[in-house]
Amino acid sequence: MPATSLPVAAGVGLRAPHMARIRTERPSIGWLEVHSENFFLDGGPALAALDVIRSDYALSLHGVGLSMGSADPMDETHLAQLRRLADRVEPAAVSEHLCWGRIDGRHLNDLLPLPFTDEALGLVCERIDAVQGVLGRPILIENISAYVRFGCDAMAEWEFVAEVASRSGCKLLLDVNNIYVNAVNHGFDARAYLEAIPGDAVAEIHLAGYDASGACLIDNHGARIAPPVWTLYRDAIERFGPKPTLIEWDTDIPALEVLLDEAAKAQRILEARHAIAA
Ligand SMILES: [Fe+2]
Repeated sequence: MPATSLPVAAGVGLRAPHMARIRTERPSIGWLEVHSENFFLDGGPALAALDVIRSDYALSLHGVGLSMGSADPMDETHLAQLRRLADRVEPAAVSEHLCWGRIDGRHLNDLLPLPFTDEALGLVCERIDAVQGVLGRPILIENISAYVRFGCDAMAEWEFVAEVASRSGCKLLLDVNNIYVNAVNHGFDARAYLEAIPGDAVAEIHLAGYDASGACLIDNHGARIAPPVWTLYRDAIERFGPKPTLIEWDTDIPALEVLLDEAAKAQRILEARHAIAA
């Protein structure tokens, strides 16, 4: 299998409003990440633009629809489309979420939480193995934000995430904002979560903004990264060492300069840790 080889640098999510500028101006960005499903296409301008951008930047394919934890059979058509895209763009990483979103043949447009049980662990690890086999490459699995918990949970979220990595051998895409949002909403210690994660399993980190205007934090990917998430990110880099880090922004997408400014902040934190290690 090809190695996961994202640069240890800060990247940004590549979104449609910025594609033309990134293609023509080629700004200095560590790497880019796209949502895989947006490029399940037979051709057209978006795929053509991605081909060009791909020649200038390391690229990560980030899936939102494979439904790794669903009790439904795997969506073979979706998986075949992902394989086709990965074969075309030869990404530095392919990632999916630790969630479910498909039931009785219907796809739900959400990343829904799993119960933290042995049964769910077994199912997810089998799926990871099957997906990696079909893709012929390793995948990264991302922890999600969730607004409910199950009464049947047999372990804490961080134990479940660490066990997925340990049992399946997959790498983790650790979303530090999701950890913070869940820590506040469910009342646990975000640093204890980091302590439970094996550092060598972490292959990528996500950072994003949340909405704090309601009764709980909502992971809306629509704002600058909040100060406590930057603090938790510093803690994560201190614990795990520098890791490829992505700025995610999916709603109310701002000017590219705003994304690059957030990426520059992450880059400074990565470089400070590099300097300490050197
Ligand atoms: Fe994320």
